[in-house]
Amino acid sequence: MSTLQQETKEDLATVEHIHKAFPTSEWWRTAVIYQVYPRSFADANGDGNGDICGITERLGYLRDLGVDAIWISPFYPSPQADGGYDIADYRDVDPMYGTLADVDALIETAHELGLRVMIDIVPNHTSDEHPWFQAALAASPGSPERARYWFVDSPGLPNNWPSEFGGPAWTQVEDGQWYLHLFDRKQPDLNWENPEVRELFAGTLRFWLDRGVDGFRIDVAHHLIKAPGLPDFDGDWDAYNRGTLPTNAAPFADQDGVHDIFREWRAILESYPGDRAMVAEAWVTPHDRLGRYLRADEFHQAFNFDYMRATWNAEALRQQISATLRNTDAIGAPATWVLSNHDVIRHATRLVREDQTMAPWILEATEPQPEIELGLRRARAATMLMLALPGSSYLYQGEELGLREVIELPAESRQDPDYIRGGGFRLGRDGCRVPIPWEKNAPAFGFNSSGKSWLPQPEDFGTYAVDQQHGNPESTLELYRRLLAIRRERGLGNAALALVNLGPDLVAIDVTSAHGTTRVVLNVGHVPWTLPRDSRVLAWSACGETMEVLPPDCAIWLA
Ligand code: NOJ
Repeated sequence: MSTLQQETKEDLATVEHIHKAFPTSEWWRTAVIYQVYPRSFADANGDGNGDICGITERLGYLRDLGVDAIWISPFYPSPQADGGYDIADYRDVDPMYGTLADVDALIETAHELGLRVMIDIVPNHTSDEHPWFQAALAASPGSPERARYWFVDSPGLPNNWPSEFGGPAWTQVEDGQWYLHLFDRKQPDLNWENPEVRELFAGTLRFWLDRGVDGFRIDVAHHLIKAPGLPDFDGDWDAYNRGTLPTNAAPFADQDGVHDIFREWRAILESYPGDRAMVAEAWVTPHDRLGRYLRADEFHQAFNFDYMRATWNAEALRQQISATLRNTDAIGAPATWVLSNHDVIRHATRLVREDQTMAPWILEATEPQPEIELGLRRARAATMLMLALPGSSYLYQGEELGLREVIELPAESRQDPDYIRGGGFRLGRDGCRVPIPWEKNAPAFGFNSSGKSWLPQPEDFGTYAVDQQHGNPESTLELYRRLLAIRRERGLGNAALALVNLGPDLVAIDVTSAHGTTRVVLNVGHVPWTLPRDSRVLAWSACGETMEVLPPDCAIWLA
């Protein structure tokens, strides 16, 4: 053995049992859920924007991938000022995406294929083109129409809150009042103290539950309630963004009043047959604050963004795994895991950026293009760790192809308000939303048959196309398929977990179910790790290398 190789004597390894198996029949406790960003997934009518029929046509692909459910980002009528998270009607479909009948057909086909369907609910704000906001603008200060939003009188900016996308969170209207928008000025915040707002959303949940959806992803669940009097935020904005400040330090986030809303919603879900579930998009830290959203009468799940933020470092990953399981176990909720979504730099790029403590959605214009090959290598390894963890995991469309962030998008094609309001310092999130490549040699790489694409696809996307990866055992797509199949066969979703100490640069876990123990080892160090002689390799993330050692930036599943 080379002196540069690390080897662990089995009898020296210490094992710390941190999570017990949780036998369950509730699908959401162990599900792998695939996020579809509809504008960029598949475009059936060739207008350059993905659509509902495009998704329905590709559901067989998702069933074959091995996921349990899909979550579809908003497809409702919207001026698209924030990629559809600016909604003008919560109970219809934007003509760009299709019709309500198309959604009904999607739900039916998904159910026939054994896939559940979750959709997005965006309760913090409407579009400024929503009839309520139009009525508020037409009405006078102090009117019931304005009372559905946050309109205030103030000689200057009412407080120092920033918009998430840059600039102040306030815009002044003609008669001098200001309205609040934590996001774009075209996304006015609703006033959740107003019973009409509560009724609108209770009715909206019922509308979609009646159509057969299996659950909801709730957008910025932590923002709905604001501190009384709308006081200034006097904390450190950078610490808030990096997730090192408890979220409720900000008067516009994680306020205790939000929980009453979700209790009411949980009761609505419980009144329907079947296991309907809701997941909180709540950028709340630390774990125990997030745990409050997961109490038995609130959310079924919450995205684990602290795990997503973990840097490429063994101690950081181990710490996040134990903190997550400790907190969710204490309240009987399932852990969740996520590496990518439509808001953050794709993990095939993020895991090689220089400053990994930076908020994962902030891509500065000065950031150099990180190394693509190393990024993919790390992404595959990171996914191998994630998909072995007990609980529920979220995948984002295209990560199963190993897609990278498209940093080099031309300025004129960028559409994200984060770029537009950010004055060019931040590139925004368009780079993770570029339409998916399905076929290397087809127009728009098979996204449609017309060749149009609302964001330009880079030349190298052809090499990532589904048809290039299908059937190639070394491809990322086949790796995902294999991992999902093994995860199912070996019951990893509700297994027990122990942390195994094999060395400082290795994240090693034993995942044990009735089907046996799966040992997962991830090497985040610089030297290879010698594989134990007596174990069988179930899967590994390296490509074109012999299976004698676990090279740096790779992971392995052993039986
Ligand atoms: C979170 C969504 O995921 C993001 O895309 C959106 O910009 C904000 N919420 C505002 O709705």
